[in-house]
Amino acid sequence: MSAVLCEEKEEEEEEEEEEEEVLSVAAALVTAPAAAPEMAPGKRRATVMSLSLAIVGSLLLQYVSSQNAGFVKSPLSETKLTGDAFELYCDVIGNPTPEIQWWYSEINRLDSFRQLWDGARKRRVSIGTAYGVNAVSVLGVSRLTLDDAGIYECRASNDPQRNNLHQNPVSTWVRAQATVTVLQKPSIVASEHVVLPTDSHSPPFSLQCNLTSAHSPHSESFWTKNGEEIPETRSTSKNSEYKLVKPRSDDAGLYMCVFTFESAPPANASIEIKSAPEIHGHKRSENRNEGQRAVLYCKSVGYPHPAWTWRKFDNGFFRELDNSSGRFFVNSRDNYTELLIENLDISADPGEYQCNATNIIGTHEEKSILRVRSHLAPLWPLLGVIFEVIILIIIIVVYEKRKKPEDIQDDDDLAGPMKTNSTNNHKDKNLRQRNTN
Ligand SMILES: *[C@@H]1O[C@H](CO)[C@@H](O)[C@H](O)[C@H]1NC(C)=O
Ligand SMILES: *[C@@H]1O[C@H](CO)[C@@H](O)[C@H](O)[C@H]1NC(C)=O
Ligand SMILES: *[C@@H]1O[C@H](CO)[C@@H](O)[C@H](O)[C@H]1NC(C)=O
Ligand SMILES: *[C@@H]1O[C@H](CO)[C@@H](O)[C@H](O)[C@H]1NC(C)=O
Ligand SMILES: *[C@@H]1O[C@H](CO)[C@@H](O)[C@H](O)[C@H]1NC(C)=O
Repeated sequence: MSAVLCEEKEEEEEEEEEEEEVLSVAAALVTAPAAAPEMAPGKRRATVMSLSLAIVGSLLLQYVSSQNAGFVKSPLSETKLTGDAFELYCDVIGNPTPEIQWWYSEINRLDSFRQLWDGARKRRVSIGTAYGVNAVSVLGVSRLTLDDAGIYECRASNDPQRNNLHQNPVSTWVRAQATVTVLQKPSIVASEHVVLPTDSHSPPFSLQCNLTSAHSPHSESFWTKNGEEIPETRSTSKNSEYKLVKPRSDDAGLYMCVFTFESAPPANASIEIKSAPEIHGHKRSENRNEGQRAVLYCKSVGYPHPAWTWRKFDNGFFRELDNSSGRFFVNSRDNYTELLIENLDISADPGEYQCNATNIIGTHEEKSILRVRSHLAPLWPLLGVIFEVIILIIIIVVYEKRKKPEDIQDDDDLAGPMKTNSTNNHKDKNLRQRNTN
């Protein structure tokens, strides 16, 4: 097994950038006390105190009057690993809507605050600000390096004098700080990716992750599959292993080993187990009436998720189906696909349909049979009953017709009161029948 080093190396730039930064800062806040390197420590403490007061004061004020800028949400301190990204949020209320700026200083060098702008640090810094009732700003820094660690400060002001170079910025800008710590990403040596054989059973194997270096002792490790933790895989070992005793295509997926740390973000490495898709579940047949809607579907296992296609077998050929006809709709996502056929046509639509799942490892397909009955189909039971009733009526009528002449004769032969006497009536009939025979 060869090793995959899950570690990212970043080079640091800055030179050309710094000049630009200085320029933009100079324009905005030349007199910022925090930015004055020669400030005495005592004075700095006072500045920090008045800063805190300004923040607390503005927080209180925001409930009383919306005159001054005040924080609704201030950025939160975070610990991140190299190569990762962070986002800080700042939400400020005030009337008029305050302006938001982001500033950065290295840790222990609070005199070195410089303004950040969108696109700084070779476009790894992004700043998005929306001015509405509140001013809301998001600072993002991606592909972190150790040098991105430091104090990030959200400054806000709606003071009309805020950019006046003769004003003390401490009295016109409210500030909120977050400390971002960046730790070297731990390195994990992980097993290679696996491809399961398509036609035969795979022998058992295990996935391995060895934590080879870390900023601090780890606390635990566990495994995930497709983003979900696999139960009972937690261990405290630096060498973590996940055994697959009977690997099948539904074991294919994106596996990840995760190492957790006391007070730092978890580190992970991922291993892919790939396999050809297999369709485990589809609609074998569908019976619908014309004009109705039919739904056929297929579900797959295997990884990566397949590309799906649907075809119909027509006159010895396969016709690819897509949304273009306006009556067929193919809806596919990951391990599932659905074919909807609207307004079924009794002459064109019945037949054999196929769903086809294809990924880089292989392909698999299944067929479904669609039967379409006439509109009248649901009426058939009712028609059947009506038909039976009609037949019955006809039989009765015919029978009555054949019987009628005799009844008339009877009526003629026998007078009113005699008619009610049925025994006499029968005797009469019998007699007469014998006579006629
Ligand atoms: C992890 O460490 C174990 C024990 O040292 C070793 O046998 C295994 O090959 C290592 N795994 C990888 C992927 O390097
Ligand atoms: C795995 O590590 C990457 C890079 O550090 C990180 O962005 C991602 O969120 C981690 N995923 C999990 C599930 O921990
Ligand atoms: C399909 O994927 C979803 C989420 O990715 C999962 O919950 C579901 O179990 C999968 N279905 C099959 C048949 O693998
Ligand atoms: C086809 O139509 C379905 C249902 O309306 C829709 O969900 C799907 O995204 C469409 N597919 C394409 C490729 O436009
Ligand atoms: C499924 O579709 C793919 C791509 O169109 C094709 O290469 C493959 O042959 C089809 N699979 C089968 C079993 O017909």
